[in-house]
Amino acid sequence: MKLHTGLAALAAGTFLVTKAALAVELAIVSGAVGDDIKMLRSNLDRYEKESGNTVKIVEMPQSTTDQFGQYRLWLSAGNADIDVYRTDVIWAPQLANHLLDLSEAAKEVAGSHFPSIIESQTVNGKLVAIPMFTDAPALYYRKDLLEKYGAEPPKTWEDLTTTAQMVQDKEREAGNSDFHGFVFQGAAYEGLTCNALEWVKSFGGGQIVEADGEISINNPDAIKAIETAKSWIGTISPEGVLGYKEEDARGIWQTGSAAFMRNWPYAYSLSNNDDSAVKGKFGVVPLPSGGDGSAATLGGWNLAVSKYSRHPDEAIELAMFLASEESQRRRATELSRLPTIEALYDDPEVAEAQPIIPNWKEIFLNAVPRPSAPTKKDYNEVSKEFWTAVHDSMSGNGSTEANFKKLEGRLKRLKGSGWE
Ligand code: GLC
Repeated sequence: MKLHTGLAALAAGTFLVTKAALAVELAIVSGAVGDDIKMLRSNLDRYEKESGNTVKIVEMPQSTTDQFGQYRLWLSAGNADIDVYRTDVIWAPQLANHLLDLSEAAKEVAGSHFPSIIESQTVNGKLVAIPMFTDAPALYYRKDLLEKYGAEPPKTWEDLTTTAQMVQDKEREAGNSDFHGFVFQGAAYEGLTCNALEWVKSFGGGQIVEADGEISINNPDAIKAIETAKSWIGTISPEGVLGYKEEDARGIWQTGSAAFMRNWPYAYSLSNNDDSAVKGKFGVVPLPSGGDGSAATLGGWNLAVSKYSRHPDEAIELAMFLASEESQRRRATELSRLPTIEALYDDPEVAEAQPIIPNWKEIFLNAVPRPSAPTKKDYNEVSKEFWTAVHDSMSGNGSTEANFKKLEGRLKRLKGSGWE
């Protein structure tokens, strides 16, 4: 019967059916926030129709740190059950040996992506992942409340501290007892590294480890930055912020219980959904400065193909499909995910649906990279030491001064005679 259908299709010149006869089953693994999985499924449905292949999603927790731990184990064990991985921008040097080179498959389209993003995913000349979307955070603020109390969106962390306290006091006086000034990502994981790098960099305290590999974190400006953030705990930010990841911060914000939030652009479209208490009541501005300019950490996600996949050709085709202009356009218009394809920033449909996108082009182009390139295979350890020292300091577990001194010692030991 199958043969019969196949032959008939061949005679009729129908490629889809011919392809379906060779169809394979693929698996993609992805972490998510907001509606990422819903969008992935909808793009996969399009891919399935076009290719005849089927794709299963293996869904992971929101924390990039948890994802990385699991993926590193799977890849080291040569796991053949996963074909495509959604990978964080910081992972390329650490996972490169387990991933296929996509240079050949991407040669026609690589030039349409921002060169710096392609470069971030290139390790020793090998393109280890194809960019899916990029990321740079915003300060979300309640337009209605700032207007009501006669305040402007803050330009410095000092302004933010004062304004957040003022709005919090007024709202609580008005009976809104669960209202908070500022929410961000303070849990002990990679998200805190992003937040704390922004504080440190904006105070002129460097980038933890500099591009040339020098360990710079133990300096007075960096310590001052963390001390400032520490002063928010239990004042403008709930104590619980030290356990918050992206979705926890968004949860508080989107029920209308915070004046300010630091989050990535994905929260923009969700905050404007019909079920959001802040729909139409908020704006976004760049993060405040600590005296040395605003700093946004560069984030973003990519698609990588496992070297252990049983269907490498189809898996590469799938990664390219999910990174394509059409998939990125859908992600941009519906989820306010920042495209990595430059042309989409001039697309009127994208700009109309999500005005944050054209406005955020300059922000992400000037965003600060985490030191994943200079610290190579040690990045995850470096970041873990950093977020631990910051988390300890903000929870009152040792002074920032003492913790940063210890941190410097640990990073020196990790580095040894040079980062490898
Ligand atoms: C966002 C960024 C990613 C970063 C993560 C930290 O998902 O895109 O690069 O590592 O947040 O929580």
